[in-house]
Amino acid sequence: MRIQVRKMKPPPASGLLFKLVMVSMVCIFSAICLCYSVIPGSPTHDVERRQINPTRTYSVAIGTQMKVLPSWYIREGDTVEINCFTNHDLGNNRGKMDLQLVWTSLDTKTKKVLMSQRASIGIFYVLGPVTHEHQGLYTCRGDGSLPDVYVLTWHYFIWVAADPSPTASIDVISHNRSQFANREEFTIGCQLPNDNNQWKMMRFDSWVGTITECPNQVTSDRSLSCTSRSASPWSDNLYWCESPAGHRTNALNVTPTDMLVVLETPTVPVWEGDNVTLRCLYRNRTTKKFTTKFRMVFYKDDRQKFVTNGASVTLPTVTKADEGLYKCRHPKEGLSPTSWIGVKAHPDVDQKSDVLHQTPAPTL
Ligand SMILES: *[C@@H]1O[C@H](CO)[C@@H](O)[C@H](O)[C@H]1NC(C)=O
Ligand SMILES: *[C@@H]1O[C@H](CO)[C@@H](O)[C@H](O)[C@H]1NC(C)=O
Ligand SMILES: *[C@@H]1O[C@H](CO)[C@@H](O)[C@H](O)[C@H]1NC(C)=O
Repeated sequence: MRIQVRKMKPPPASGLLFKLVMVSMVCIFSAICLCYSVIPGSPTHDVERRQINPTRTYSVAIGTQMKVLPSWYIREGDTVEINCFTNHDLGNNRGKMDLQLVWTSLDTKTKKVLMSQRASIGIFYVLGPVTHEHQGLYTCRGDGSLPDVYVLTWHYFIWVAADPSPTASIDVISHNRSQFANREEFTIGCQLPNDNNQWKMMRFDSWVGTITECPNQVTSDRSLSCTSRSASPWSDNLYWCESPAGHRTNALNVTPTDMLVVLETPTVPVWEGDNVTLRCLYRNRTTKKFTTKFRMVFYKDDRQKFVTNGASVTLPTVTKADEGLYKCRHPKEGLSPTSWIGVKAHPDVDQKSDVLHQTPAPTL
């Protein structure tokens, strides 16, 4: 592991992006309610978060938050910056409490405290150059030194794009999108190699910070699928398939939302030269049906890109420059969540001429 700490900087201004609206005090049965405001387009934890701990009494609850850059698509060799901080005033606990950044390796499941720091300062940690070894769960939490302070932990999964030719692929097979409205059902499928291995679909829940098998997986011949229902708008889920030998597909990020606007995009990276179709969908509150009969505004990397009435837009013959974060807007209902569109280059002509020895269709 080449993890290095470069420098520290103060935590981002508290409450600027993410506001802890209410911090609970002692409750008789120690119910803790932490409510956060909505941040449009934030990749995780958009909405209200609640946590009940019936067994203990705390005098104060403190929320933590993490910001990771780049936030969407991390490749080998990238430098990744992790910020872990508390997002409200520490009051009397200023100078007393430490934060920890803990890493749980995806491969070995071992946990390691990467850094401890006074909560009033916050943690700034740099990973890089990133390799697959760095993959795993990063948790920002209190060190437990103040027993009457409840510190809400924050989880972030750092996934590093798979080897150029993963042996299996993953996609949403029921829809052309990875954003789902409340209680919507969707199916994710993996195409598997013919290797007689017991592949499984795994799922990471960013709210609880757990990795579990996707329940009720259906396997047939060379595919595996799992149907889930979009549940907690505050937890992003990451899905992937893996074999006992440790082979993995890429990860697919599913964004639940309690808003009524979602964006249709390719859910896996597309090839350079492909035509990519984007649609904005609005879900009728009553009928729960999606419609596209409205004026759609599309954004790429927060900049307005297209406006269209009730249809879809096509990005013709995409290039690397089209890669980025997309979202759309309904005139009354506001913005959809953000999704990443990845564009991958075709393999070199040299490699193409060697087709017999190539695994087909390398994916990112
Ligand atoms: C997904 O997109 C393709 C091509 O644009 C279309 O033919 C198909 O019907 C769409 N599927 C769904 C479930 O919307
Ligand atoms: C993209 O659309 C153009 C124009 O409709 C068409 O000529 C081209 O073949 C399409 N490209 C692909 C990869 O489908
Ligand atoms: C939702 O659907 C109902 C029934 O079709 C319709 O009357 C209503 O106008 C729709 N609402 C919106 C906001 O489009």
